Amino acid sequence: MQGFDVDAIRKDFPILSKPVNGKMLAYLDNAATSQKPLAVIDGIKYFYENLNANPMRSIHSLAEKATVAYTEAREKIAKFINASPDEIVFVRNSTEAINLVSMSLEFNRGDRIATTYLEHHSNILPWMRLKDAGVDVDIVDVDENFDLDLEYYKELKENTKLVTVSHESNVSGTINDVKIISRLAHEAGALAFVDAAQSVPHMKVDVKNLGADFLCFSGHKMLGPLGIGVLYISRDVQYGMMPFLLGGEMIRSVKLDKVEYQDVPAVFEAGTQNVEGAYGLGLAVDYLNQIGMQNIEAYEKSLTNHLYKAAEEVYGLSVYSGRSRNRGTIFSFNLKSLHPHDVAYLLDKEGIAIRSGFHCAQPFVEDKLHVEGTARASLYFYNTKSEIDRFIKSLTDINTTYG
Ligand code: ALA
Repeated sequence: MQGFDVDAIRKDFPILSKPVNGKMLAYLDNAATSQKPLAVIDGIKYFYENLNANPMRSIHSLAEKATVAYTEAREKIAKFINASPDEIVFVRNSTEAINLVSMSLEFNRGDRIATTYLEHHSNILPWMRLKDAGVDVDIVDVDENFDLDLEYYKELKENTKLVTVSHESNVSGTINDVKIISRLAHEAGALAFVDAAQSVPHMKVDVKNLGADFLCFSGHKMLGPLGIGVLYISRDVQYGMMPFLLGGEMIRSVKLDKVEYQDVPAVFEAGTQNVEGAYGLGLAVDYLNQIGMQNIEAYEKSLTNHLYKAAEEVYGLSVYSGRSRNRGTIFSFNLKSLHPHDVAYLLDKEGIAIRSGFHCAQPFVEDKLHVEGTARASLYFYNTKSEIDRFIKSLTDINTTYG
């Protein structure tokens, strides 16, 4: 963690020093969205003051600047995950990326898709919809530690066309063996999709090393603005994908009896692009690179270990995350018989922001945790051990008052 200085880093995030409910904010809801550094906030202002025009269309100088800003952002993001710029499609978020692939890949009656019990709704529902077209959908099970059943992938059913899996679960924090799963998918002739929304912000992700054909993530969880996300589509699988949205700039030629489409990525970016978002995400990537993903991962590991160790002292805590041998920064729990929304409400009064409920993963929470919801704290590299200590103390205080 050479040169990692959390106090200096925190100064880059103005919102972290603003009180909430009269208390210092401890923002522990990073799996939902991250806070933004000044480099991104100021950068967006700079974009509108200096670069704004509609890119890829008009040929005036300002439009050229907007085009360069958009193109350079794509290059930065491609490099960040070891892809080529022509493999990077800008979308709104991971949800849109998954919907895009579900509607753009050709699925035929009798094809099979394997998703998992650990998924967020957005990696279940778009595939379930294909059942109406005669596609079979399997939900791969987990063991008691919430590790995926790798045996399922070793004997993939013959008609499996696509295997889709989250890199890190947003409830259990399990980091899945997506490299092995991608390899097993390929050996069986299937494609591999990785939902990396919860991993790309926290660790070095290399699409070539993972072997994924598709991989998606959301900008807002990694310091970028809301409304911009990324879908990586390996060059090897781009051919034959159908357009998702039709309109301007995704075509080469339009005659009323014949339309020719652009290649990826343009074919999937119909309409005026979110240049501000892409530009802001490019700046977020610069910021992350400057801190270093390895430093981020190492610091977050020590923070996460501190949290799990401190939580052992809290009476009546049921912890649902972190059981896997490979865990991320997510801490899902319930406190005695208190409803998770009540716990979140009481923590909020102390300035501590967490999420509570199903976390958009109702099948996992109900069928595997057997609860009506959980409270969830989730960390990022600007959090501190003292924020975690405050969180733990507040849980102990809630216990004393309401236990
Ligand atoms: N997927 C986000 C979360 O887990 C919204 O909170």
